[in-house]
Amino acid sequence: MFKEHNYIIWGTKCPCGRENFILQNKFHPWNESDFKIVIKCSYCKSFLTVDKQAAEQFYNERIYSYFEDVEGIVLDVGYGGGFLTQHLINKESVEKIYAIDIDENSKEEINKLVTKHKNIEFKLCDLKNILEAFKEKSVDYVVNRDVFMFVEDTQKYFDDITKIVRKGIRQMGWFISDNKRMKNKLMPSDIAAELKKRGWKVELRILEMKQSARRVTLCLQDVLAGKF
Ligand SMILES: C[S@@+](CC[C@H](N)C(=O)[O-])C[C@H]1O[C@@H](n2cnc3c(N)ncnc32)[C@H](O)[C@@H]1O
Repeated sequence: MFKEHNYIIWGTKCPCGRENFILQNKFHPWNESDFKIVIKCSYCKSFLTVDKQAAEQFYNERIYSYFEDVEGIVLDVGYGGGFLTQHLINKESVEKIYAIDIDENSKEEINKLVTKHKNIEFKLCDLKNILEAFKEKSVDYVVNRDVFMFVEDTQKYFDDITKIVRKGIRQMGWFISDNKRMKNKLMPSDIAAELKKRGWKVELRILEMKQSARRVTLCLQDVLAGKF
């Protein structure tokens, strides 16, 4: 497991409705631990204990909130362990999810979900061959998280995904300018420009949920693209 981020959000929602969080550098919310923090609610001043479970829920809900309007036939590019699909498949508005990944391990991983949800179909596929696997305008939404930074030929990527999608693209990922694993250095604004060039309207949202000690601007970039 690569530790890309030194600091990560750890928080919870207070019963009064206010979100409270800190950035801390001990544990990621998904690491098994009995680590806890106590935060004083900035609004009602109650003390809130945040354990691993609460932190993970808070983190996941934040991410998922950017995918709330996804519907119809969805393509999850870079399925991985299924973080997005396992949430989206429970939405009534989602009819079917195609999940692709280049990694054989994802194929194993998805079987647990497929036995529960028949409307998920996995394809072992490299993103660069996506036009061989999907016809033009065959899916309503393309979603991906933490995948775009591994795309080498970004021009082909934008050409291809904008061909197969009908309604919208929801793309999220980290950007660390000096990270050796990144295959391209496109900033959120560059991604937006590429999609606009191809006739899409784009909204950029920056989530400051992670931070690096190397003083690089770190963000989750969420590109909402659609024919609004
Ligand atoms: C950091 S993981 C993210 C997984 C998942 N989307 C999530 O949010 O947890 C990146 C995933 O992208 C996949 N991936 C990277 N390059 C790919 C490519 N060219 N074609 C298909 N999948 C790719 C990797 O195999 C890996 O599963």
